[in-house]
Amino acid sequence: MRNSKKRLALFASGRGSNGEALYKAMQEGYINGEFVVIITDHGDAGIVERSKFWNIPLIVIDRSDYDSKASFEQAQLDALEPYKVDGIVLAGYMRIVGAPLIERYEHRILNIHPALLPSFPGLHGHQQAIDGGVKITGCTVHFVDTGMDTGPIIMQNTVPVLPDDTEDTLSDRLLPIEHKTYKEALRLFCEDKLTIKGRVVYIED
Ligand code: GAR
Repeated sequence: MRNSKKRLALFASGRGSNGEALYKAMQEGYINGEFVVIITDHGDAGIVERSKFWNIPLIVIDRSDYDSKASFEQAQLDALEPYKVDGIVLAGYMRIVGAPLIERYEHRILNIHPALLPSFPGLHGHQQAIDGGVKITGCTVHFVDTGMDTGPIIMQNTVPVLPDDTEDTLSDRLLPIEHKTYKEALRLFCEDKLTIKGRVVYIED
């Protein structure tokens, strides 16, 4: 028997295509979860437009509205608390998540990164792969810890890097793979099939 649906927060800063792919997979019943709140750090992010008809509360928490990192992070915690979320899904959320949020939701925050971690963490994962001359890159879904893209890896998938690739062409090739990978990883999370031991995530399926 399926467990109860996981209550999830979606954090996004930009276009929101991963968020939308996950939302659709939830609507179709592929992922046993629901976004109960969307948090963005940019009021004009693409996710704001995309999620207009989803009927999910959207909260803008913009760092520039806060005097300090601590008050910004407290605002995130306060905003989330009423929603009693089981997990947080970072999908194109372009800020480092602070320690208070990580401690409160330990091993329950997932992120997608556009490279095969631990290679090419941080910004511009695609360009870093091109500049690094690698022949294969990919995406990584991982649990978030206090480092920069250093948390335990849940799932990875690959794409080739072609000789004349630009950041845009590589990103276009990788994006559908990101959607597929994130859907599968989040499905497993929502079914309690992921166990973390040290740095290793074990998948029971
Ligand atoms: C995706 O490529 C995601 O992997 C990347 O931002 C893009 C967001 O696209 N995330 C990072 O670089 C995180 N460091 P989307 O807004 O269309 O989902």
